[in-house]
Amino acid sequence: MSVNNAMTVDFLSSAYGGESMAHMRYTIWGDSAEKDGYPNIARLFRGIAYAEWCHAKNHFNVLNDKVEDKTVVAGAVFGHTNIVENLQGAIDGELHEIDQMYPVYLETAKFQKESDAQRSFHYALEAEKIHAKMFKDAQDMAKQQKDIGSETIYICPICGFTEIGDNVEKCPVCGAKKEIFKSF
Ligand SMILES: [Fe+2]
Ligand SMILES: [Fe+2]
Repeated sequence: MSVNNAMTVDFLSSAYGGESMAHMRYTIWGDSAEKDGYPNIARLFRGIAYAEWCHAKNHFNVLNDKVEDKTVVAGAVFGHTNIVENLQGAIDGELHEIDQMYPVYLETAKFQKESDAQRSFHYALEAEKIHAKMFKDAQDMAKQQKDIGSETIYICPICGFTEIGDNVEKCPVCGAKKEIFKSF
């Protein structure tokens, strides 16, 4: 994999930073959800944390021959209070990626004919759309002091596609076989 244009390099670096932080944040919020008596919302946080790890890895791998030290500036969400607020932080972070960040990054990569970056941004954008909805549904339950259901949560390790329950035979985003999905 490779990337040539400086603007796409910057966007890949920033997206790597943002996804890395999302991975960590969801892991922290998952532990809190578990402690607060929401084991299935905890699984959702941990499953989606893995999806964000997949996105960070994809962006990092597109940058594989850009050997350098650099300071990365990336969107961050802070706050660690209660489950409803933590889920709002998750929703806000996902919506920022869906409405602002990835559409701009993707269009830039297209304009600069950076095919590997396009794929990496496209995979992330599609997964984040699903994540925003899942976090919103979980928040609706948490507002009533209820946990979400116990269905298995599946993550495509190639693109981060996320599915609750056994609904797909293969990844609708990247085409990967269901057998390689990671389950939570
Ligand atoms: Fe996400
Ligand atoms: Fe996939």
